[in-house]
Amino acid sequence: MALLLLLVAVLGVVLASSLLLRWNELRYSRRRGLPPGTMGWPHFGETTEFLKQGPSFMKQRRLRYGSLFRTHILGCPTVVCMEPELNRRTLASEGAGFVPGYPQSMLDILGPNNIAAVHGPLHRAMRGAMLALTRPHMIRAALLPKIDAFMRTHLHGWAGRRVDLQEMTKEMALLSALRQIAGISAGPLSDALKAELYTLVLGTFSLPINIPGTNYSKGLQVLFIACIPENIRTKKVELNEPSNSSSVCFSGKEEACGNAAADDRGTGGNEGTRAKLSDDQIIDLLITLIYSGYETVSTTSMMAVKYLSDNPKALGQIRKEHLDIRKAKSPEDALDWNDYKSMTFTKAVIYETLRLATVVNGLLRKTTQDVEMNGYVIPKGWRIYVYTREINYDPFLYPEPMVFNPWRWLETNLESHPHFMLFGGGARMCPGKEVGTVEIATFLHYFVTRYRWEEEGNNTISKFPRVAAPNGLHIRVQDY
Ligand code: HEM
Repeated sequence: MALLLLLVAVLGVVLASSLLLRWNELRYSRRRGLPPGTMGWPHFGETTEFLKQGPSFMKQRRLRYGSLFRTHILGCPTVVCMEPELNRRTLASEGAGFVPGYPQSMLDILGPNNIAAVHGPLHRAMRGAMLALTRPHMIRAALLPKIDAFMRTHLHGWAGRRVDLQEMTKEMALLSALRQIAGISAGPLSDALKAELYTLVLGTFSLPINIPGTNYSKGLQVLFIACIPENIRTKKVELNEPSNSSSVCFSGKEEACGNAAADDRGTGGNEGTRAKLSDDQIIDLLITLIYSGYETVSTTSMMAVKYLSDNPKALGQIRKEHLDIRKAKSPEDALDWNDYKSMTFTKAVIYETLRLATVVNGLLRKTTQDVEMNGYVIPKGWRIYVYTREINYDPFLYPEPMVFNPWRWLETNLESHPHFMLFGGGARMCPGKEVGTVEIATFLHYFVTRYRWEEEGNNTISKFPRVAAPNGLHIRVQDY
């Protein structure tokens, strides 16, 4: 009797499971013309498999269904696109049926006006404000001197210490952004903001379940910028002062940027409209700025050092490049724009690091109407996961793709290849590309000219869903 009951129970579970699996299939897959694929469990879809298996989830499905397939991840019916040319076209089609499609938790926590939540004229206005801030003239005149001063201090006194490089590069990315945006230096205020930012980042990567104790709920409570209203207010006054070439223009008004706008006209810099942004929009933009540059810059800096440690030839060459720059300067002289422009090998190291330690696996878009892709019809409201990770390991584009080879960037102009998408593409191509590269290059400059180092302990690096050293990346640092 007991055996019979057990059998009935097992049969019941099997039947219920297959009905549940069928339910999601029926719910989404009745539409004609969908790409092949599976939809998994109701609500959860295939999220667990996707997060657990990461890149191999994608590769297995590509083998089975081709490079365009349907699934259900992160709470949404999704089409994953692994075809580089189609990905490029999708990113270039903002407004023609595609808008950003980032998870709700991210949009809720970063604010309703954050750049990933807006499109159309408001997106152009916010982007214009960002580009005014990050154009070459602004980097040269205003940002590089601040970044240089910050890196000198941040990298002071590491000799003789055991340092967790992951911790230090995270702190570096946050403090450098705070210094540039709000003039805040290391101290109790930046410590408080650091803790808030960690909570905010975790919240944006979580499921949107608003019950006390969840990462999402904690993320919603972060009053990040509210901690520094006075600084921001002061900054905005400063921002709107006309004819100060080193001030930062968020207003979108040409005259508010002083000479900067005129100098950079023709560089393709400001593609935004001249609409004025509200205070709330500016605040959400500031949060976005800090958030966007945080993990990208910190992780790439950490991984560049890791790859250089493992490749003495590359370390020798980058050190020579930076020692040559220092030879022409006194120790107090800051790096200038020409120094930065001469760092060709350093830039190759940064791009090779971005390629190999893929920080951005892909980009999310949402369809605003039924959209045709490769003969399939993707219904309105579905997500498109523009999965760019695999391009980084394409052996035709990058021979021996798993080898750290910065020289490949010097031999071929890979940056102008249509499938170069390390910084995205189309209307949302990263506006912080140059600032981020300048920050990492300046960090490397002071790090390799001042110090030598050795890894200590058992450092492991995980590559998916985020590149991180779960127990830190510990190094013993000595004067060079
Ligand atoms: C080197 C490190 C960086 C990498 C690899 C990187 C990568 C990217 C990528 C792939 C996108 C496209 C997102 C999409 O299409 O949905 C993007 C957008 C963006 N990035 Fe970066 N980024 C970096 C540094 C920065 C920095 C330092 C800042 C801020 C100063 C920044 C600010 C932004 C913003 C605001 C957007 C959104 C642009 C828009 O929606 O129009 N990024 N970034």
